[in-house]
Amino acid sequence: MAGMDAKGMNSHWVEIDLDALRHNVRFLLDRLGAETKMLAVVKSNAYGHGMLQVARALQDEGISAFGVAEVEEGIELREAGIKGDIVVFLGVDRKSLDDVIHYDLQPVVFEKNHIVELSRIALVTGVRIGVHLKVDTGMGRLGILPEDIPAYLATLRREKGIFLAGVMSHFPHADLGEGRLCCEQNNLFAEVMQKIRTSETPVTGAHIANSAAILRYPDMHWDMVRPGISLYGCMAGEGDWAAQDQLRPVMSFKTRIIQVKNVPAGSGISYGYTYVTDRPSRLAVLPIGYNDGYLRVLSNRAEVLVRGQRAPQRGRICMNVTMIDVTDIPGACAGDEVTLMGQQQGDRISAEEVATWMGTINYEVVCLFGNLNKRLYLPET
Ligand SMILES: Cc1ncc(COP(=O)(O)O)c(C=O)c1O
Repeated sequence: MAGMDAKGMNSHWVEIDLDALRHNVRFLLDRLGAETKMLAVVKSNAYGHGMLQVARALQDEGISAFGVAEVEEGIELREAGIKGDIVVFLGVDRKSLDDVIHYDLQPVVFEKNHIVELSRIALVTGVRIGVHLKVDTGMGRLGILPEDIPAYLATLRREKGIFLAGVMSHFPHADLGEGRLCCEQNNLFAEVMQKIRTSETPVTGAHIANSAAILRYPDMHWDMVRPGISLYGCMAGEGDWAAQDQLRPVMSFKTRIIQVKNVPAGSGISYGYTYVTDRPSRLAVLPIGYNDGYLRVLSNRAEVLVRGQRAPQRGRICMNVTMIDVTDIPGACAGDEVTLMGQQQGDRISAEEVATWMGTINYEVVCLFGNLNKRLYLPET
């Protein structure tokens, strides 16, 4: 059958280690004060790790707040039995107002008309909806500006169908270790919170910290933190700070060799002959290509693990096929498991290393590999 090997396995697959995920959430929880809650960011299919499996494992670990990008993801979580708060980062549009109420989701708000419409429909339905007010304290993305706070507070107080479950902001520099900028932004957030708390507007919690800020700046945890990438065991920025090397990568990406052959020196490999062998070589063919997220930009840059050793990728990566050089790996043969990302024996190819080869960040690597390939869960769910 196309795409399957002799053992009935997919010819390439992503492995998700749920024990590593559990380890990471405990590692992060250990760094929080007793009063600080965790909102686990599971948007974009949990960064490619599979939103439902991840949310279930996190719920088992006591997590009771989840962050998604869109209402549809929130619905999926609820229908899968996920309890607690589900915060929708991109807010609500007119057509999903009923869903927000029906599925008890908490949208982020940054437009007055969303607040008004939500409140009105909530009142008709006889419920109150929690919303999180997004304040742009320097991210330059979603959110109202601090000077607009009074007008929004007036609206929030007037509209009785909603309550302010949270006030949130986001750091653009925490992963870069720009301590001064984060500090300035956190001070601005403190001013915003002060303004809100001294007004007549009750608010449940304040949250601003992503993974990097959680690990780097314990004094910026506020009432709730919002980790994403660190849950998945990836580095939340460069450097070995805050013991983030104790996180365990959750995702691996694997395939198997489908052919091995000996070629003479001077053989051109793949489209355009961007690699020509400089010695008699043993080449292995992998059933993986840019259609599976193993992007063409990795051509002649990437390395993979075979029998615990690194093998260089050679020639252009094709849509479904990639060549590697196994000349220096004795015994390499068809059927051998190949680790494109992850641990094999004593070596590891990290998402960060792949990201460097791709010229991008680990977030993009795990989203790409995880969302394009079949996921296998360990231990099985
Ligand atoms: C609003 C918001 N909070 C938290 C996060 C989690 O960030 P990180 O993955 O860096 O922990 C994200 C991710 O993009 C986000 O958009």
